[in-house]
Amino acid sequence: MRQEHKNPQKENNKQTKPVSHFTLAMAMKSLLSRGISSPPSRPFERKWILPVSLLLTLPLLLLLFFYSLSPFPFLLSFPTFASSPPSSSLFIESKLRVSSPSSLSSPPRLAYLISGSIGDGLMLQRTLLALYHPGNSYIVHLDREAPQEERDALKVFVENHPLFEQVGNVKMITKANLITYRGPTMVANTLHAAAILISDGREWDWFINLSASDYPLVTQDDLLYAFSKIPRDLNFIDHTSNIGWKEFQRAKPVIVDPGLYMSKKADVFWIPQRRSVPTAFKLFTGSAWMALSRPFVDYCIWGWDNLPRTILMYYANFLSSPEGYFHTVVCNSKEFQNTTVNHDLHFISWDNPPKQHPHHLTVSDFSRMVTSNAPFARKFRSNDPVLDQVDSDLLLRGPGMIVPGGWCAGEKTAKNATDSSGSDPCLVVGNVTHLQPGPGAERLERLIKSLLLEENFRPRQCK
Ligand SMILES: *[C@@H]1O[C@H](CO)[C@@H](O)[C@H](O)[C@H]1NC(C)=O
Ligand SMILES: *[C@@H]1O[C@H](CO)[C@@H](O)[C@H](O)[C@H]1NC(C)=O
Ligand SMILES: *[C@@H]1O[C@H](CO)[C@@H](O)[C@H](O)[C@H]1NC(C)=O
Ligand SMILES: *[C@@H]1O[C@H](CO)[C@@H](O)[C@H](O)[C@H]1NC(C)=O
Repeated sequence: MRQEHKNPQKENNKQTKPVSHFTLAMAMKSLLSRGISSPPSRPFERKWILPVSLLLTLPLLLLLFFYSLSPFPFLLSFPTFASSPPSSSLFIESKLRVSSPSSLSSPPRLAYLISGSIGDGLMLQRTLLALYHPGNSYIVHLDREAPQEERDALKVFVENHPLFEQVGNVKMITKANLITYRGPTMVANTLHAAAILISDGREWDWFINLSASDYPLVTQDDLLYAFSKIPRDLNFIDHTSNIGWKEFQRAKPVIVDPGLYMSKKADVFWIPQRRSVPTAFKLFTGSAWMALSRPFVDYCIWGWDNLPRTILMYYANFLSSPEGYFHTVVCNSKEFQNTTVNHDLHFISWDNPPKQHPHHLTVSDFSRMVTSNAPFARKFRSNDPVLDQVDSDLLLRGPGMIVPGGWCAGEKTAKNATDSSGSDPCLVVGNVTHLQPGPGAERLERLIKSLLLEENFRPRQCK
C-alpha cells in the first residue's frame, strides 16, 4: 500500500574523451545488466556478454586507477557546460549556472521512474504509454510485493512493444526491490533507478519519479517545449523547513525498516528511545514527488561530497523518508540550494481538512486539474473514466496507443486521434527533436512563469 502523509492541520505546503566515456558506460552497463531487462534490440549483447564484459572491465579498472590519481575525479568524468540561459528564457536571473550533459541547442530530455506494486501492472503500462517520447529514458519497476506473473506480464509488454524495441529507451528492473512505503527502502529504490539511468549512458536533464497512479495532463512535446526555456539545473521540489507537528512525529522517533534486511515484507517498527533534532544540518520536508536536475542527481549518486551520503544514513531511521531526503540534501547544499523551485509539478487533491491520503480524482475534478496548469496529477484509480477524458481531450491519445508528437513520422491512416483502427503514425520514429507543442505547453508555461516570478522564486527557496 502506498502511504502518503499530509499535515492534519495545514502544510506550507560532455566529454573530452568520448572513447573512454563509451567504454565506461558500456562496462557499467554490462555489470548492471543482470538485474535489468531491456527490449531485445541488441541480441548480440547477451551472446557476447561474457567476452565483452571481460574486454570492457580491464579498461574500466585502468580508468578507475587513472581517475583515482586525480584530485577531482568527478571533474574528469562530468565536465559541465557553463552558458547563459537561452534567449527565449522565461527565467529572469542570469546568475544561475546552466549545466547539463545534454546539448543545449536541442530540447531537454527526461528520465522517468514509474513504479508500482501488487495490482498496478496494467495501470503502469497505461501511464508509460501516456508518458512515452523516444528522446526520454524510462525505468519501470514492480516491487517484490507484486506477484512474479504480474512482473512477467510487464516484462513481456516492454520487450514486445515495437517502438520500445526499436528505440531501446524503456528498461525494467526485473530483480525487484522490497519496498516499505514509509521507509528508507523507498528512497533506496529511487536512488537505484537514478543510478541505472546515469550508468545507462543516455543523455537526460531531469529525473522524474512517478507511480502507476500518476498520470500526465500534458503531452511530452508540451513538457519538453516548456522545459526547453528554463535553465536545466532547476530542481522542482516542494519543500519547507517549517516541520511543525512532524518534529514530534517524524524527526524524533527512531524507526527501523525491516525491508532493508528481511526477505519478506514487514512494516516499520519504532525504537522506544527518541533522538534529538539534528544540529549539523537543517531538516526540510515536503512532497515525495519531484523533478530533479541532472547535476543534482549526479551529486546524490556519485557522492563526491559527503552530505548526500550522511543524510541518507540519517534518513534510514526516519519515518516517511521520501518526504524529506532530497529536500534536506538540496537545501543544505550551498551548490544546489539556489536551484530549487518550490513546487512538485502535480495536481493532488487533499480532503479538507487533509487526511492521510489524497482523494482519488474523478471526472468531477477534470476542470480543476486542467486549470491547475500542472503537468501531472494523482492519484487515479486504475482505468477511471477521467483518464479516458485526459487521453482524448488533453493528450489526443487513442486507446492503447502512444501520445502523438512531432517525432511521429509514419503515414497517418487513422481518421482522428481516438480512432485506433488505422495504423499508428507513431510506430515510425522521425525527428526526435521536432516538438509540436499544444495548449498543454501554454498551461505549463503559465505555471512555470508564476513559479519563477521574483516574489515567488527566491523568497520560497529553502525557507
Ligand atoms: C517516488 O515515487 C514513488 C511512487 O511510487 C513515491 O511513493 C516515492 O515516495 C517517491 N519519492 C521518493 C523520494 O522516492
Ligand atoms: C545563493 O543565493 C544567495 C542569496 O541570493 C547568495 O548569497 C549565494 O551566493 C548564492 N549561492 C550560490 C552558490 O550561487
Ligand atoms: C473518430 O473516428 C472514429 C472511427 O472512424 C469515429 O467513430 C469517431 O466518431 C471519430 N471521432 C471524432 C471526434 O471525430
Ligand atoms: C529536426 O527538427 C528540428 C526542430 O524542428 C530542426 O531544427 C532540425 O533541422 C530537424 N532535423 C532534421 C534532420 O530534419
